[in-house]
Order: sequence, then structure tokens, then C-alpha cells
Amino acid sequence: MSMRIIGTGSALPEKYVTNNDLAELVDTSDEWIRERTGIAGRHVSTGETVAELAALACGRALADAGRRAEQVELLIVATCSPETGIPSVACQVQSSLGAVNAVAFDLNAACAGFLFALHTAWAYVQSGICRNALIVGAEVLSKLVDWTDRGTCILFGDGAGAVFAEQCDRGGILSFVQHSDGRKGEVLRCDSRALTNPYVRGVMQSPWVKMDGREVFSFAVRQVPTGITEALRQAHLKAEEVEMFVLHQANFRIIEGIARRLGLDADRFPMNLDRVGNMSSASIPVLLDELNRAGRLKEGMKMVLSGFGAGLTWGACVLNWQREC
Ligand code: ACO
Repeated sequence: MSMRIIGTGSALPEKYVTNNDLAELVDTSDEWIRERTGIAGRHVSTGETVAELAALACGRALADAGRRAEQVELLIVATCSPETGIPSVACQVQSSLGAVNAVAFDLNAACAGFLFALHTAWAYVQSGICRNALIVGAEVLSKLVDWTDRGTCILFGDGAGAVFAEQCDRGGILSFVQHSDGRKGEVLRCDSRALTNPYVRGVMQSPWVKMDGREVFSFAVRQVPTGITEALRQAHLKAEEVEMFVLHQANFRIIEGIARRLGLDADRFPMNLDRVGNMSSASIPVLLDELNRAGRLKEGMKMVLSGFGAGLTWGACVLNWQREC
């Protein structure tokens, strides 16, 4: 028993912010941002919430799969930027979709969140707990970013991507690996609330994303190829047999570095980060949706998905793209 993705969807906020727009806010330039990151622009929420974007992406994934909301049995939202601590974003999405039969919950593994949620759904489906799942990555990171810090505000974008997946007897997901290293948590951090109650008055350090860019860079280029190689070994495949590597869209130099370490041409690594920036857990499913709608995902093609980010967390999945049973 395995699980195959049969529908994809995505949603992006209306407002689009170019590098030149950012150069009016902080001391930066279009040239610097493009050269160091590959990013040219990103969507930024002017009101759209994580739950609203996630629900839109889910509706589109269900329509693409030809399924109804009442048929959904599991709904996982991967996010690190929810507007509410409770209820979960997943429960809000369940309500707006009318997915009345779904079990819904959130999961936070930062930029690896979508991969971790997909893995969780796969485990549920394989063990027979449910027969299908809606898996969403959704972020409004613009509210966690210090818009006076040129080192971070240029990197991120807002958006949501979703896939609908269901059980299958063959093909679909072939292998999965997941890793975490909490010892490196300080490399990329965002605090939420200070402990304050009648007995203690906590002091909030800073509510914004803080990042050691160089550490993140070397972690990604070192660990991600190892994770991908491990997942390929489990699937009994060689890297050369994989047609497409859909990676978390952090930075084109990271992706090129990973391709080089795997001994592959970067043209097998599609990218959309130039247009949408780094959308954390939303980046893989949004790119997957773009590729699907552009007709670039061929029946039977071997693919690798790989996410990596704060925690630290990273993971990889090998799959056979197979919408037909
Ligand atoms: N515009 C102009 N200059 C800038 C900017 C900017 N936006 N940001 C930093 N600088 C300056 C710095 O102040 C510094 O100036 P100085 O030499 O006078 O001190 C200089 O540029 C070099 O700064 P570095 O931080 O050393 O620049 P670096 O070459 O490392 O590039 C970057 C920074 C792009 C963040 C890089 O470290 C990187 O890509 N890291 C990966 C981080 C990442 O992708 N994070 C995403 C979130 S995590 C994830 O998704 C996995």
C-alpha cells in the first residue's frame, strides 16, 4: 500500500513586491538580491490570512483531483506563521471547505513542513488509519519579518500550496527520509510570546526572524544531498534516473550547490523562487502546482521532493508521479 498525489492547488496574495520596491524600504538593490539569492519579486499579504490562502489552495487541489471536500479524511496544514495559536489553521480550513469528515491538525517543521506533513499523511494512509489526505503548506511570513533588516526581509514571500493524495496499490511515494537537529536551533529563530502570568513577567527578545545566513547555507548544501541520496537508496534508484528534483525554494545558489554535490545538471531542478521568493513550507507545493498545471509532470516520471529549514529539519521523498491508478 502506498499513496499517490492526484491533485494540486495554490494561492498567492494579490500584492506583488519587487526588489526595486524593497530598495525604497532598506539599503539594498535589485542587483544584490538577484546575485545572492536569485529572487526578483514576491507576493506579500495585505490582509490574506494563512487559513484563507490555505483554504483557497485546498479547494483548487480538490477540484484538480476531482474530489469533494466531504471525501477528505485527513487534513494537515504545515505552517510556522499561523495567525492563531488555537484553533489550528487546519480546523479553520476544514470549516471553510466543509471537509466535515476530516481529522485536521497543524504541523510545524518550518521550511521542511510540507515534506514532514506529506510523510505523516503517508504513514496514516499506509497504516490504514485513513484512505486519503489533503496536505497543505501555507505561510504569511511577512508578519514575522523585520522590514528594516535587509538581511532577511528580501528573502521571504507569502503563499499556500496544497496536494490531495490517496491510497494506491503501486507507484506513488516510494521512499521517505526525515531528520532533525535541535542543537542548531539558533541558526534560524523566531520567538512567539514571552512567559507572562501572575507570577512572572517575561521579556520578549524580538518577535522577528533572526538568521545566520551562512550557517543556513552550509547546512543546506551539506545535509540535503545526503538526505536525497539516502531516500534514493531506499527506493533502489540512482540520482541519474530521477527526472525532476523539486526542492524547497530558499535560494538558487543553495539549489545549484545541491545539484553539484549530487553530480547533476541544475536544469533538473525547476525553480520559481525568482518570482515568489522563499515561502517556507508553501514553496514545494506551490512549485509542484505550477509544474502540474504547465503539464510538466508526466505519468510515471521519477521525482524527488526535498525540504530543509529551521529546527534544523530536513527530509526527502522519492515518488513515481502517477495520477492514474
Ligand atoms: N542588500 C545589500 N547588502 C546586503 C544585504 C542586502 N539585502 N543583506 C546583507 N548585505 C550586506 C551585509 O551587510 C554585508 O555587508 P558588509 O560586508 O559590509 O558587512 C554583505 O552584504 C555580506 O553579507 P552576508 O550576510 O555575509 O552575505 P552573504 O553572501 O552570506 O549572503 C544570504 C546573504 C543571501 C542571506 C546568504 O547567506 C544565504 O543565501 N544564506 C542562506 C539563507 C537562506 O536562504 N535563508 C532562507 C531561510 S532558511 C531556509 O529557507 C532553509
